Amino acid sequence: MSDSLFTVLAPMAGYTDFAFRAICRDYGVGLTVTEMVSSKALVMGNTLSRRMLYRADTDKPCFCQIFGHEPEVMADSVLIDEVAAYEGVDINMGCPVRKIVSSGDGSALLEDPSLASRCISAVKKAIGDKPLSVKFRLGVSDSERAVYFTEMCRDSGADFVTVHFRTRRQMYSGDADYTLLPQLARVGIPIIANGDVTSRDKCARLLDMGASGVAVGRGALGRPYIFAELADKPFEFDTFAAIERHSQLLSEIFEERVVANEMKKHVAAYLKGKRNGKVVVTEVMCAHTPEQVLQPCREFFDTYPELRYIR
Ligand SMILES: Cc1cc2nc3c(=O)[nH]c(=O)nc-3n(C[C@H](O)[C@H](O)[C@H](O)COP(=O)(O)O)c2cc1C
Repeated sequence: MSDSLFTVLAPMAGYTDFAFRAICRDYGVGLTVTEMVSSKALVMGNTLSRRMLYRADTDKPCFCQIFGHEPEVMADSVLIDEVAAYEGVDINMGCPVRKIVSSGDGSALLEDPSLASRCISAVKKAIGDKPLSVKFRLGVSDSERAVYFTEMCRDSGADFVTVHFRTRRQMYSGDADYTLLPQLARVGIPIIANGDVTSRDKCARLLDMGASGVAVGRGALGRPYIFAELADKPFEFDTFAAIERHSQLLSEIFEERVVANEMKKHVAAYLKGKRNGKVVVTEVMCAHTPEQVLQPCREFFDTYPELRYIR
């Protein structure tokens, strides 16, 4: 399986920043995707949105994920230099967050396949030969229209789809239900399977069921080495070095206070499950500078060196 396993780092707003994506690269992830960016904000020249598209040179191939519901705006957004610099585009049609859905974006498009189709076609026309993917959920409250939606993506010009095998109603709870995977795989567009992928066994099962690859979300948080694990490749993960590198990378574009704030959630993820890690996380929560984030981590790993390396 290892040679043929195609892995994707699933986009996660607030987490899959350019620094985390660069670290996942070290462990062999096949494709990364940016955090979702509003096509409208991009077109309106919002500097924060454009800044979110900063990337490390090594982070290739990476797709830019956009959300929106106006075909022309979405098509215009992918022509902006910062977006065009990416190797491909991914359209978010799965986000269940109320604010996004009530604006007609994300998983709201599951309810309007005709508009979704026009969005996909418009973006495909704009990006030409570059690959386009669509990420969506099984449905709103059931999976009845999942096959139809997959066919629609295929017919509208998507090159592959990433399916989160939960419904919008499930949000992030309950297990991902892969019952429909074989049927979706028969539609004739590559399916990247997403939802609770954390083991090699699971990957093998999903590939057997017809998936062309897997996308890992929460399973990668604090564990960027999961991509090496899934591919059965040897690796050594130095947790403190990763924390330090993550912070240094963020410092390339953010001021100290922002880096410290961003690092808080990442440190919580890197230390999750480690004995006495919570004490450090509590201390890090009060940090105002990167050094105030790093110092308690350094002391922690000096005290418990056996918790620092994972191989
Ligand atoms: C904190 C968080 C942020 C997310 N942000 C996005 C996003 O920006 N775009 C997107 O398509 N999905 C987003 N997702 C969904 C994930 O990409 C993925 O579909 C979901 O977490 C299921 O995969 P998992 O079980 O491997 O975590 C997010 C999920 C989480 C937990």
